[in-house]
Amino acid sequence: TQNYRITLLPGDGIGPEIMAVAVDVLKVVGKQFDLEFEFQEALIGGAAIEATGEPLPSATLDTCRNSDAVLLAAIGGYKWDSLPSNLRPEAGLLGLRAGLGLFANLRPAKILPQLIDASTLKREVVEGVDIMVVRELTGGIYFGKPKGIFATETGEKRGLNTMVYSESEIERIGRVAFEAARKRGGKLCSVDKANVLEVSQLWRDRITQLSQEYPDIELSHLYVDNAAMQLVRAPKQFDTIVTGNLFGDILSDAAAMLTGSIGMLPSASLGASGPGVFEPVHGSAPDIAGLDKANPLAQVLSAAMMLRYGLDQPKAADHIEQAVLQVLEQGDRTGDIISPGKNLLGCRAMGDALILALEGK
Ligand code: NAD
Ligand code: IPM
Ligand code: MN
Repeated sequence: TQNYRITLLPGDGIGPEIMAVAVDVLKVVGKQFDLEFEFQEALIGGAAIEATGEPLPSATLDTCRNSDAVLLAAIGGYKWDSLPSNLRPEAGLLGLRAGLGLFANLRPAKILPQLIDASTLKREVVEGVDIMVVRELTGGIYFGKPKGIFATETGEKRGLNTMVYSESEIERIGRVAFEAARKRGGKLCSVDKANVLEVSQLWRDRITQLSQEYPDIELSHLYVDNAAMQLVRAPKQFDTIVTGNLFGDILSDAAAMLTGSIGMLPSASLGASGPGVFEPVHGSAPDIAGLDKANPLAQVLSAAMMLRYGLDQPKAADHIEQAVLQVLEQGDRTGDIISPGKNLLGCRAMGDALILALEGK
């Protein structure tokens, strides 16, 4: 038996609902593959603010550091939206990423044949789409200094953030992306705004230099505005995309909709060493929280990514992904991916369907 310590961070909004499904799935898969999961729940985001006054209590970071992997659901909600940025739920998530050194965020967007009719785009546009967005996660404008809201001499306030990347930061995310492209279709598109931003000029230069070490990878560059347009116009041209923190945040939500719903997209956040964090791309969906309407599949697929990238258990990961395909094949759908003739299920019922599929029923 392999033993794993898993920290669970259910967070806010739909977080606890989708986390419950993922944990049920992991328990079944654990039995089937002889894996023993020791789950520890910890506080983050709004839930942590309510209980302790801070979005990332140090006890949470310690628990995460002492585990083999971290499974996170989502944070945030209306209630905390007017707090200063360093006290908001989002600060907890950013602190977790920085605290664990998780500079590489892998966000796969793959259209499943069963969901083609759930996409808002035409079948011929999305059929066969299989993209990996490699997003830099601990730098750029999210973390650059100076930052803040400052009063000027006239009394008018100014808001300020700084977009900054050093060569070493660009190089390490670049390597992750070239390696990912090598395991996939061999194409890498680097997205920046080098026509306007100096930080992007450095990004483009460094990625271009690095490409000499990866002669087998076909490298291209796009400006981010064009990349957003191309993602919707002709998404099949993309294989692997590498980009900075802010552009990656935006492009990965756009890529999500190619697959039918943001409720389908998992992600893996990895550092040079130590535990990774596995979380859906979507947020806490406060508009449907507590209503048993959330799609738990992004969370369940994040658990599969945890098995694959965090715990090196690819067979267990495959088994979960197969179960997801099976329920979709059966026509089971949550509201976000429903189309005519399919069965509308709630979050928990979707979890029950997954368990049956895992058990081969
Ligand atoms: P969101 O992703 O939470 O929701 C956007 C829309 O997608 C909503 O209509 C929502 O109902 C829907 N949606 C999202 N996930 C779904 C799911 N699993 N099933 C069905 N529908 C789903 O984005 P938002 O509304 O911009 O942000 C809400 C809060 O979440 C904010 O506080 C934001 O900061 C936070 N957020 C957190 C994370 C995270 O924890 N990683 C990511 C994004 C946003
Ligand atoms: C995401 C989210 C986060 C981000 C927020 C909630 C801090 O949008 O994980 O995509 O911007 O990275
Ligand atoms: Mn986002």
